[in-house]
Amino acid sequence: MAETGDPGGREDAHRGAHPFRHRWNHNSEYYPALAGVVAGCDRVLDVGCGEGTLARYLSGEGHRVTGLDADASVLPGAGPGPSFTLGDAEDLPFPDESFDAVTMVAVLHHVDAPRALAEARRVLRPGGRLAVIDIARARGPRGAAAWVRYRWIHHVARRGTTHWEPGTRKVDPRLDGAATRRQLEAELPGAVVRRLPLWRYLAIWTAPT
Ligand SMILES: C[S@@+](CC[C@H](N)C(=O)[O-])C[C@H]1O[C@@H](n2cnc3c(N)ncnc32)[C@H](O)[C@@H]1O
Repeated sequence: MAETGDPGGREDAHRGAHPFRHRWNHNSEYYPALAGVVAGCDRVLDVGCGEGTLARYLSGEGHRVTGLDADASVLPGAGPGPSFTLGDAEDLPFPDESFDAVTMVAVLHHVDAPRALAEARRVLRPGGRLAVIDIARARGPRGAAAWVRYRWIHHVARRGTTHWEPGTRKVDPRLDGAATRRQLEAELPGAVVRRLPLWRYLAIWTAPT
């Protein structure tokens, strides 16, 4: 698994207007980056889509999007754009190889990660792309230093944004960065993993052809 370094220097990405400045949080910060990862993919599945904000955004970018969540109370009803389905990330109700891309934002630490990643791999067509953004527990001096920098990004670099708290359930991540890396190496061999500011990481995996 390749690791493409520390988030240092990425503060540039935090200057200027953000497309989700009116619905900003530590997840929507990365929706534009995810749109870049799935560019060129037609059928996109957003697992753990919550209120469907990313699904709608990707639909607006021209993808055919399905959002899936296990919580009926947050899942949007039928409407224009994406279709939404009640379902379990660990037992996806879709045939093998039925999507060109799968996204999962802040979901992996809610579920049995090996099962959910196996399901994401199963529904991806050969050459399809899996993009995971999730949270790792920050520990020790490095975690403390990151905390200072991330609070700066939250309060200073993102001044002017409207903080958005979706009605989705919150869960504290159990794995730290090292354990997360081991898990991703085991479940997504060859994935490119990058630490991101705001306690996140991005893993991109391409299904073998
Ligand atoms: C922190 S929220 C993230 C929501 C959304 N991805 C976002 O970017 O705002 C985690 C979501 O995962 C969903 N979830 C938890 N367990 C799940 C499961 N087994 N299958 C599908 N979704 C699940 C929750 O209902 C919740 O909507």
